[in-house]
Amino acid sequence: MTAPDPVGAWHRLAETSVLLDGFHALKHAVRFGAGIPVAVTVDRGATLALADELAPDVRDTLDALLAEVPEPTYRSLVPRPHPTTVAALAVRPSRAANLEKLAHTPRTAPVVVLDNPRNLGNAGAVIRLAAGFGATGVVTTGTLDPWHPTVVRGGAGLHFATAVERLTVDELPSGPVFALDPEGDDIRGTKLPDDAVLAFGSERSGLSAGLRARADHWVALPMRPQVSSYNLATSVAMTLYHWSATGGASAGAY
Ligand SMILES: C[S@@+](CC[C@H](N)C(=O)[O-])C[C@H]1O[C@@H](n2cnc3c(N)ncnc32)[C@H](O)[C@@H]1O
Repeated sequence: MTAPDPVGAWHRLAETSVLLDGFHALKHAVRFGAGIPVAVTVDRGATLALADELAPDVRDTLDALLAEVPEPTYRSLVPRPHPTTVAALAVRPSRAANLEKLAHTPRTAPVVVLDNPRNLGNAGAVIRLAAGFGATGVVTTGTLDPWHPTVVRGGAGLHFATAVERLTVDELPSGPVFALDPEGDDIRGTKLPDDAVLAFGSERSGLSAGLRARADHWVALPMRPQVSSYNLATSVAMTLYHWSATGGASAGAY
């Protein structure tokens, strides 16, 4: 339902909520069941027309949620407005809820672990990939917040489609740990199980000693000898694709 005082609600909730900036982020968050207490647009008719065209399944929900605000007000609420000039605040899932999803067994799709990632754009791209492949979740170790606004922007609102949490190496969910590393065995000879924990190293220094110590298997993505490594997000893409193409349960998961 449209918030009775959308601007007041925005100011009250902004600090503790997840900013969904733009139509696609809002659409995905609605589809995957995010709690959305307030949504604002500069042009209600244009946003609903976009929904009619691109996402009729969320049109009625948006119709009920959207509050139209003057453009200067909108700009005061949203620091770097997306061209679609619609934004919303969503409730961040609790750590307990994410931990429950990550711990749930039997696991039907892998968990992706980013070990001390540095680049917010990579983290967002990986969350989008994990959502697309129906992965159980994305866990980060280290200091990067996987719910940072830039990561959420990169993830196109798909944080709500998979469990996203920051954990220590000791808190990783159960399951065989597959360490992705150019020195590993060729992934083409490996079938990744649905309960795999797929661990990827940092852009700067690869996998940490702590994660290396947890690895049960080492696998490499095919690469010409003169090339040292792939980008982190593209490595995750290839690995999840390999899982799905070699019989991963995702065939039935989405
Ligand atoms: C940009 S790379 C890290 C490069 C880093 N300079 C290093 O010393 O390893 C980021 C991560 O992507 C994964 N990766 C990149 N290329 C890979 C390959 N050919 N095989 C397996 N994993 C790869 C690894 O998990 C790696 O730690």
